[in-house]
Amino acid sequence: MPARPSLRVLPGALLLKRVLPGTLLLMLCAACTGGAGARDAPGGDGAGPGAAGVGDTLFPKLGNGGYDVTGYRLALDYEPDSRHLKGTARITARATRALSSFHLDLAGLRVREATVNGRPAKTARGGTELTLTPAAALPKGRTFTATVVYDGTPKTLTDPDGSKEGWIGTDDGAVGLGEPTGSMTWFPGNNHPSDKATYDIAVTVPKGLTAVSNGELKRQDTHGGRTTFQWHSGEPMAGYLATVAIGRFDIHTTTTGDGTPQYLAVDPTEADGTGRLPGQITDVIDWGSRTFGRYPFSSTGLIVDHLPDLGYALETQTRPYFDGAPDEALIVHELAHQWFGDSVTPRAWKDMWLNEGFATYAEWLWEEDHDGRTAQQIFDDFYDGTDDESDGIWDFPPAAPPSAEHLSDPPVYGRGAMVLHKLRQAVGDKTFFTILRTWLKDHRHANAGTGRFIALCERASGKDLGHLFEVWLYRDGKPKMP
Ligand code: TRP
Ligand code: ZN
Repeated sequence: MPARPSLRVLPGALLLKRVLPGTLLLMLCAACTGGAGARDAPGGDGAGPGAAGVGDTLFPKLGNGGYDVTGYRLALDYEPDSRHLKGTARITARATRALSSFHLDLAGLRVREATVNGRPAKTARGGTELTLTPAAALPKGRTFTATVVYDGTPKTLTDPDGSKEGWIGTDDGAVGLGEPTGSMTWFPGNNHPSDKATYDIAVTVPKGLTAVSNGELKRQDTHGGRTTFQWHSGEPMAGYLATVAIGRFDIHTTTTGDGTPQYLAVDPTEADGTGRLPGQITDVIDWGSRTFGRYPFSSTGLIVDHLPDLGYALETQTRPYFDGAPDEALIVHELAHQWFGDSVTPRAWKDMWLNEGFATYAEWLWEEDHDGRTAQQIFDDFYDGTDDESDGIWDFPPAAPPSAEHLSDPPVYGRGAMVLHKLRQAVGDKTFFTILRTWLKDHRHANAGTGRFIALCERASGKDLGHLFEVWLYRDGKPKMP
């Protein structure tokens, strides 16, 4: 089956590459804060407002300061015909400073009501910021619950690179996708990968449709012509990995070799050849567990929808989303993200190569282990430009995407994978795989950035790898080969 156009496989085909006015603004903003971005206002011992962003250099407005979410409980009700969504979000969080008010990220929708610890809270909106002012200030360290009742027609976002995310209508329902910013179109939250939390997502849809989300299906019941699906994600998840897919789906459940439950939802119009998917998932999860360490989540599976205009797949936690029936390399890529990206999540968006470079290198390792080219041959094909996916890989250094527009460009994927191969050459196979497994063990269900990775590589190998990473991760242009 031909590779389908995805951000992963067909970077060259990716939509517009022009800088839109909004992007320029973002870049200027990042520059004016010196990259550090907004911080909580100094409040001394007194309560102050939480910051409207976490200081992400590529997305200054994303996320919020002053609290740390531990759990989201979402109750969503969706009517595909009218595209109307009704939602209640119950957010449990801990104040990391004394808070007189705090922000949530929310794009569009109407806020009907908000409470903090059961008491009415004042709300204000501006751009994608929703500010809640509780009746009483929240002391530092206090765990609190914020409830937001909202409704409306959720938006589809168009990213600076032209791709669609957020809430996207399909021929038989809709899907919520969130990389890098779109989760705020269907629920309010701390929309930055650095704040991971557990999720309980209940979705009510007209009887006959299925609502698939992350984690395990705890309950499904039908009353008065509507069915509620209750999903639970017990392992922490970044907001951009949350999903809901609503539509007609054939459901297959089985287990992988190690007993992990699989839940597969396949749009009947994309069913051709998908009978092999449960076996492929089992093979990839078994291979990943042997290569990288135990599979990090309580369940697996996938969603195969019919959304051919989307043009990408997404590693939504436990249940990657495909816009059509995937080929094997794409399955390997999205399942590899369950370790690299989902379990160990970047601290900031500029560290994206820790997701895409690693998932791409996982494809190379899979090919090497399954009678294809060796990783060395693939590296050479990328270096000399003979591999189809190597177009554009020298545009910028992988650990320094120049703006949000370039987050999913070829250097982050292909050159990111090449960095790992250079590392493997420098430290040898044994140390290389020890590094990958240690990385995954040390930061399981947490966040980590590039600096930490480099430090681990040097510690584990006892080598000074400064030059290698400087040249391959940070320096402009095509590195010379000795
Ligand atoms: N992460 C997706 C993949 O690996 C691709 C992708 C979709 C993406 N949306 C994105 C990457 C937004 C960066 C930003 O296949
Ligand atoms: Zn990817």
